[in-house]
Amino acid sequence: MCIKILPEPTNITCNKLNLAFNYQQSMKKDKILVIGACGQIGVELTLALRKMYGEGNVIASDLREEHELLRGTGPYVSLDVMNKEMLHVLVIRHNITQVYLLAAILSATGEKNPLLAWHINMASLLNVLDIAKEEGLDKVYWPSSIAVFGPNSPKEDTEQHTIIEPTTIYGISKFAGERWCEYYNHRYNVDVRSLRYPGLISYKSAPGGGTTDYAVEIFHEALEEKSYKCFLREDTYLPMMYMPDAIRATIELMESDASKISVRAGYNLASMSFSPKEIAAEIKKHIPDFTISYEPDYRQAIADGWPGSINDELARKDWGWNHEYDLPKMVEDMLTNLPAQLAK
Ligand SMILES: NC(=O)c1ccc[n+]([C@@H]2O[C@H](COP(=O)([O-])OP(=O)(O)OC[C@H]3O[C@@H](n4cnc5c(N)ncnc54)[C@H](O)[C@@H]3O)[C@@H](O)[C@H]2O)c1
Repeated sequence: MCIKILPEPTNITCNKLNLAFNYQQSMKKDKILVIGACGQIGVELTLALRKMYGEGNVIASDLREEHELLRGTGPYVSLDVMNKEMLHVLVIRHNITQVYLLAAILSATGEKNPLLAWHINMASLLNVLDIAKEEGLDKVYWPSSIAVFGPNSPKEDTEQHTIIEPTTIYGISKFAGERWCEYYNHRYNVDVRSLRYPGLISYKSAPGGGTTDYAVEIFHEALEEKSYKCFLREDTYLPMMYMPDAIRATIELMESDASKISVRAGYNLASMSFSPKEIAAEIKKHIPDFTISYEPDYRQAIADGWPGSINDELARKDWGWNHEYDLPKMVEDMLTNLPAQLAK
């Protein structure tokens, strides 16, 4: 399909030199589209990108209503990424140069409706990759996940290149997505970059139906109820990361010189690994009367198929990745910042 649309007329009525200069500058700037901007990662990533690129140069989009933390911080567009034509028009109309695709069905939700998860996770990526190819976009970001690994992968210190046999539909769609990213990079030279995020912990925006969501819920319940019923066993180790590290990793990867990127499928990325028992003990240091109980559900089987820890030496070697937050530092920061967020 070939769509040609002229950019929207820019409303410049003032001919003062400095305004003209700003306009020239902004014409040269990257124009970023974030798809799935109202999700757990999207809100914080959009805010970080707006700080770097200027608020007008980062368009947030989602199926949902604009997230309250995004309101007033820059342009927002309602978009269903499954509608390729609408996405294509948006990219052309706004002179988009980079796309961050965050819309997806996550692991726990995916197991409830596997065909829908496959359809959305695959079609959204193919829509973006194909438009990137057709319009010659500068860069595309698409996150993969530790869910690409399966029960036959090594359990500890799981390396970048190893047995990858995912058993969840989420993991299968991420693995297939990684192959598509490599394919579009090798075949069409699309500069697509990707990280295999571990479970992400944040206080600003709520998680969206993943197996590692317990590590966020536990803070809410600890502050509000002083107790938490965990849906995983106490000894379930999973790789995790605090959101500020995940946002920085994403931006550092995207800002790296293309010559440093040796992996197009999704870099292993790590910072900490802990069990529900260990995070509960760390929270108890701050809230001594906090208690935890365990009632594993269907998510236990998903977690059992994933690694306990990840080897991310390639990300550290290629583009200098270095995490900042370990378990004690993350717990302290969460308990410092979450109360104010809950009071809003
Ligand atoms: N959060 C994690 O712990 C984690 C871990 C590994 C990988 N990831 C990956 O990172 C990405 C973002 O994850 P998240 O946690 O922010 O997810 P999320 O569920 O919190 O957010 C996804 C957003 O996409 C939007 N969306 C869904 N369908 C859409 C559509 N058809 N069109 C437009 N928008 C749509 C949703 O409304 C939601 O706001 C996903 O690809 C996910 O697989 C997340």
